[in-house]
Amino acid sequence: MFSFEFTETHELIRQTARDFAQTEIAPSSVERDKAATFPTDIVKKLGELGFMGMMVSPEWGGSGLDTLSYVIAMEEISAVDASVGVIMSVNNSLVTWGIEEYGTPDQKTRFLTPLAQGSVHGAFCLSEPEAGSDATQQHTTAIRADGGWILNGTKNWITNGTSASWYLVMAQTNPELGHRGITCFIISREAEGFEPGLKEDKLGIRSSDTCSIGLTNVFVPDDQVLGDVGHGFKFAMETLNGGRIGIASQALGIAKGAFEAALRYSTQRKAFGKPISDLQAIQLKLADMSTRIEAARMLVYFAAFQKDQGQNFIRAAAQAKLMASQTAVHVALEAIQVHGGYGYVREYLVERYLRDAKITEIYEGTSEIQHIVIARELLRENGS
Ligand code: CAA
Repeated sequence: MFSFEFTETHELIRQTARDFAQTEIAPSSVERDKAATFPTDIVKKLGELGFMGMMVSPEWGGSGLDTLSYVIAMEEISAVDASVGVIMSVNNSLVTWGIEEYGTPDQKTRFLTPLAQGSVHGAFCLSEPEAGSDATQQHTTAIRADGGWILNGTKNWITNGTSASWYLVMAQTNPELGHRGITCFIISREAEGFEPGLKEDKLGIRSSDTCSIGLTNVFVPDDQVLGDVGHGFKFAMETLNGGRIGIASQALGIAKGAFEAALRYSTQRKAFGKPISDLQAIQLKLADMSTRIEAARMLVYFAAFQKDQGQNFIRAAAQAKLMASQTAVHVALEAIQVHGGYGYVREYLVERYLRDAKITEIYEGTSEIQHIVIARELLRENGS
């Protein structure tokens, strides 16, 4: 049965994240969006708060919290700045999770602890120029060498790509085995032949850094293989199941931020002799936006709940991401509509929510991929 209660810890995390977002993130968010500047100091402070390794055990430098705590923090941070949200989400869901789950004690000491403490952050490299939604088509190769592997290829759309210290990189170690020949490697940014490219000039989440990465004869020692050789695709899929809860909560935050801006504006802006919030046309929008946000929030909490209970949460995570990302785009559009012409100019800030929202329908599996995942799970659950 689905039941959850917010504990004092959850409420403390919500308040801490909200205060941090207002005092530390909001003041620089407009400038960082304009100039596409990575929030180096903010990420360092997020680490000090324990937000970069929220679900990692304290034994390995993390905060030892549950998934619900994580989504609460993600929502509050992303409501103010979704760029900071995705940086945090990638480190929590896509990087530290996998090392804690599959890493050796040595890997946990060397990589997980600094990543979970936030003294450094990580990136997750699955996508390639010809492997986006069709992620099994990995062309990056890893060839056996004395004491390790030699990697060659290109990775695309890597969040934290220019700023990370450690990268989880999927590569094909045995093409004959198809996706069962893919392996995950932990690679240092300093490795010879490992070259992050130029930052992409993006529509939204402009303060996060996204780039391609070239690998030219990069030597990776055996002790930096994460999990079993050949387990990399399954690993990436498992990682993305949890990642989708993170992006769903980012989308939820964007929707919340856009809605609150619209609500506030509607009580201040006057038309026809009264605040526009008195007009039914605006009230209908506010009611619709709020209802969709609450529905998305329940799906996000449900996915977090299932994950915390150790249940199969694949469908719940995909449904939460699908619904929350659609909600973010819809609510951001409506928030602009409530602002009228002012919503269309940068000065009023609400346009950024729309630019930031769109990516949540694309990364960590497009909405089309989420539909596929949901349908497959439904059929599996029904014995097909
Ligand atoms: N959880 C666990 N295992 C899964 C899984 C899931 N959700 N989905 C597939 N698998 C497993 C299957 O069980 C299968 O395992 P076996 O080898 O044991 O049979 C294996 O993976 C292959 O699965 P399929 O046969 O279903 O493969 P497919 O090619 O038909 O479909 C897909 C796979 C669902 C389309 C998958 O490729 C996919 O999810 N694509 C989207 C990729 C994606 O989300 N990319 C995001 C990039 S990362 C990013 O955006 C990060 C960022 O920077 C913010």
